[in-house]
Amino acid sequence: MHGPLALVLFAASALAGPAIEQRQATLSLDEFIAQERRIAVAGVLANIGPDGASAQNASRGVVIAGPGIVNPDYRYTWTRDSAMTIHAINEEFFVGNASLQSTIEDYIYAEAIRQTVNTPLGDLYPWGTGLGEPKYQINLTRFHGVWGRPQPDGPALRAITLMGYIDYLLDNGGMAQAKRIIWPIVVNDLLFVAQYWSIISYDLWEEVAGNSFFTIQSMHHSLVEGAHMATRLGYTCPQCESQAPQVACFLANNFWNETGQHVLANINTPEGFSRSGIDSNFLLGAAENFDIDAPCDNAYYQPCSSRILASHKAYVDSFREIYPINAGRPANGAVATGRYPEDTYYGGNPWYICTLNAAEVLYDAAAQFRRQGQLTIDSTSLPFFQQLYPSAAVGTYNAPSGWWQRHSWGWSRWGEKTWGKPSWWGPGRGYGRGRNGNQRGSAFTDILASMTTYADGFVSVVREYTPANGSYSEQYNRTTGEMLSAYDLTWSLAAFVTMTQRRNGQYPASWGLRDVAPLPSSCNTAGAGPQNYAPAIEAGAPPVDMSCTVQITFRVNATTTFGTNIYISGNISDLGNWAPDYEPMTPPSYPIWEAIVEAPPNTVVSYAYVQQNPANYTFEVGNRTITTPDCGNGRVQLSTLDAIRGPGTVITENYCNPDVTRCW
Ligand code: NOJ
Ligand code: NOJ
Repeated sequence: MHGPLALVLFAASALAGPAIEQRQATLSLDEFIAQERRIAVAGVLANIGPDGASAQNASRGVVIAGPGIVNPDYRYTWTRDSAMTIHAINEEFFVGNASLQSTIEDYIYAEAIRQTVNTPLGDLYPWGTGLGEPKYQINLTRFHGVWGRPQPDGPALRAITLMGYIDYLLDNGGMAQAKRIIWPIVVNDLLFVAQYWSIISYDLWEEVAGNSFFTIQSMHHSLVEGAHMATRLGYTCPQCESQAPQVACFLANNFWNETGQHVLANINTPEGFSRSGIDSNFLLGAAENFDIDAPCDNAYYQPCSSRILASHKAYVDSFREIYPINAGRPANGAVATGRYPEDTYYGGNPWYICTLNAAEVLYDAAAQFRRQGQLTIDSTSLPFFQQLYPSAAVGTYNAPSGWWQRHSWGWSRWGEKTWGKPSWWGPGRGYGRGRNGNQRGSAFTDILASMTTYADGFVSVVREYTPANGSYSEQYNRTTGEMLSAYDLTWSLAAFVTMTQRRNGQYPASWGLRDVAPLPSSCNTAGAGPQNYAPAIEAGAPPVDMSCTVQITFRVNATTTFGTNIYISGNISDLGNWAPDYEPMTPPSYPIWEAIVEAPPNTVVSYAYVQQNPANYTFEVGNRTITTPDCGNGRVQLSTLDAIRGPGTVITENYCNPDVTRCW
């Protein structure tokens, strides 16, 4: 990635962290995990406003990314982190932690408000573009910094989390609440996904512009589940139905690196982008979009698919040599893993969420094989299996005959449909009740056991780098293992919780992948076109300004150096009424920077581009104008393509511009 988006100082990699303390060596892994799960849930709650001890300035239901304001400043709320965290909390609630219900309902309230915030990408109404904003202030107001935006995984993930809770409500007499309060929020997100799923956007690491595996897979999940959920509520979602197969087609056909035998994290990236594509992106995707009842076909990249297992091996192997803390670990065993091998953020280190997801995906895959009562090894997955089970061979391994699955609601035979039933395992998992043993049956159980042991190895690596108080930061140092970057990071803690759930045989309800229609024969990436977005008033959203506007996409060619960014400023409110630092631009096709704003009709909009340097904001020389037409049907869009001019007025800190009602 080129310089301008390097928003955070890298110097922190030199910081000394707390000494590493091993959790009492006397605890078994099971005991450690049970204890850490409680610590992690408590740590998550401490980061949710306003009652959480570390989030007292956050609004009700706001999940802060982390409490730290330096190295780096994570006292913001991300749509993604929040949704994935509450996804974990949902599942804790479902298995009996009743006190979490109010947390979930507060989250719902916060998200209804978040959808209506005026963002640097625009608003909820009329274009829905504001939903693609990744990051907000913790009182749910606009974040003005230059950032990698849009990040359209956010709405998909939020819809998934909210539908998980709706699923619970429908089984517990909550139909009216689901329809009135929650579904209107979900609808905005589903429409956004249906309209915008194929746009060039930033990946979950907020660095790469293109189309990203994690984002696309999560979008597919949201639309499939959205179509089912609409039906269960007595509605329909035609946009979900029309777009889900297209997203599936795109997912199936674009993200496989045949030479390297791994998922390619990002495609349609800018010229000059040169990473291997090996990235934990696929792990977070496979874990988030895991469906216990799903098939293992490569097209859907479920944990049990050959492609995900092969990617797991390529990914883990890519960290064996590069992190000094992995020295001396067995060549076929678990190691510390990070976002992607080329990472340089804070020096490029292992991340807790990534190592935990390396375990989680293996628990998921083993559970799917167990549910299906069989496991097929092909040439793609063979190297993965051979490292765990040297005599593994291409072919199908069947469970011992008569293999039954135990659920909370009873037993099912393998292969039997369990849609609509809660799908976590009771204690004591499935076991054979059969008569005529099957020659390969014991290999089946042995392979699953070796996968589980391997998965436990990743949890043990995390345990090694767990501090005495049990709270995780974002990263642990590649050389010393000391924690660094963003202490008490909410989604590190949430990742521990979901890993534990899967390890304990607790699975989210199926989202319906098993019943999807076959893939279309050719893919269409056009999306569903403009949709009607509306605030979820009954959930607590404020009314939004619905006066007719003209959307303008400003584009400017501006070559910048490391540490400088571009803003646009002008005489309308979306341009900050001439504030220099209100409307940040984003360079998905650097050196072209762009910003989307909504302008009143029939107006002469004056504007100028501003370079943000570390010490000041420098306006370009002279103003420009663009005149908006009549609003027409409310769907008028304009765009510019300008070249930035030389420096004009310089605004330094503590300067009050006479034209403006603000000072800096
Ligand atoms: C902040 C982002 O959140 C992080 O993912 C990224 O690596 C750094 N900025 C550097 O671009
Ligand atoms: C940086 C990560 O790259 C991004 O995925 C995350 O959303 C933010 N930090 C906040 O945790």
